[in-house]
Amino acid sequence: MRIVILGSGRGSNAAAILEAAGQNRLGRARVVQIFSDKPGAGILALGPRFGVPAAHLDPGPFKTKFDEAGETRYIESIRTLDPGLVVLAGFMRILKPRFIDAFSRKIINLHPSLLPSFPGLDGIGQAWRRGVKITGCTVHYVTAEVDGGPIIDQSAVRIEESDTLETLEQKIHSAEHALLPSVIARLSAPPSQ
Ligand code: GAR
Repeated sequence: MRIVILGSGRGSNAAAILEAAGQNRLGRARVVQIFSDKPGAGILALGPRFGVPAAHLDPGPFKTKFDEAGETRYIESIRTLDPGLVVLAGFMRILKPRFIDAFSRKIINLHPSLLPSFPGLDGIGQAWRRGVKITGCTVHYVTAEVDGGPIIDQSAVRIEESDTLETLEQKIHSAEHALLPSVIARLSAPPSQ
């Protein structure tokens, strides 16, 4: 199963996926391309490190959405790669129905909270400020409702008295680095008879 990863940030989750692939923990999935909407994003440095094509793709002038030309650029560039799965690994841009429908049921997103709690920006900070005792991370299918698509799997993280926002962030990132590759491996398995 061919995977395309989209990310905007440092790319620790993309690195976890690529490390899992190198250790035969990604099932039948393999990463064929990384795209970033941010020209200097850390995620792009994973390309040469792991021997995977990685490129900046211009999303247009807006901060959190695509303009029409940018959306077309993404759809066509991804479609050419014929992916079985498009993985949003820290991709901080909203996808509209035209994009989602181009890859129906093939786009998954990682979110740093136990959805449906704390959708949107800064899921970790939202949970921390609310004072919940258990939070975590979620992988879900992308639909037009932001962070609202069907949940595929989740991992829970307990917030201890001794935690700070920084230690909580580390715990959630560790949970993400285990969860996302395991979900991809599972989705890559052929349907059972
Ligand atoms: C991850 O924590 C991911 O859950 C979050 O961005 C981070 C990316 O880290 N995504 C969202 O908040 C999406 N709404 P990374 O670049 O190190 O993988």
